[in-house]
Amino acid sequence: MIKSTDVFYSSDYTQLTRDELINKVQSQMSEIRFKHVLGVEEVAVELAQLYNVSIEAASIAALTHDYAKERNPQEMQDLIISESLDLDLLQYGSEIWHGPVGAILVKKELRIEDEEIVNAIRYHTVGSPKMGLLEQIIYVADYVEPSRDFPGVDEARKLAKSDLAQAVAFETKHTLQYLISKQREIYPKAIETYNTWVAKN
Ligand SMILES: [Fe+2]
Ligand SMILES: [Fe+2]
Repeated sequence: MIKSTDVFYSSDYTQLTRDELINKVQSQMSEIRFKHVLGVEEVAVELAQLYNVSIEAASIAALTHDYAKERNPQEMQDLIISESLDLDLLQYGSEIWHGPVGAILVKKELRIEDEEIVNAIRYHTVGSPKMGLLEQIIYVADYVEPSRDFPGVDEARKLAKSDLAQAVAFETKHTLQYLISKQREIYPKAIETYNTWVAKN
């Protein structure tokens, strides 16, 4: 098994080396969030090998998934409007904005254009009815990386390695259950994710 720290970047996805990308990502966030990002990369690179996905793409998507998380909400709001993203986003909490906004900023500022990587960033917050393996890996790795600690995290970690789609379903169901228990608003696209990955038909 190749470790995240040993992933070599070929220039298929970025002209940057892993160290250069790490420096750019680190400059965008607090120490604690940067540690989370490295944890997501560690898990994503492991899952990529289990599910036969490019470890390079998994490393890049993981390192950049929270690139926009600490941007000023006003800047994110302006981008949602100027880039014609889903205007519904503005009705819901700003925590979900950094997925779609991050997809735009990673393209613009880091010149990472690969559609699967960009979509993995875009969908990591609320998922999507259609998610390929890389998108599923980032969605799940974000939830189970080593510094996460919540009831059920061990089961989620096991599922991630045994059945990725089940892990997506577990995460989606538990996140919605949590939001409902707190009487929080639910972004409609999160319900579409639930209907596809969790609900029985
Ligand atoms: Fe995030
Ligand atoms: Fe994250």
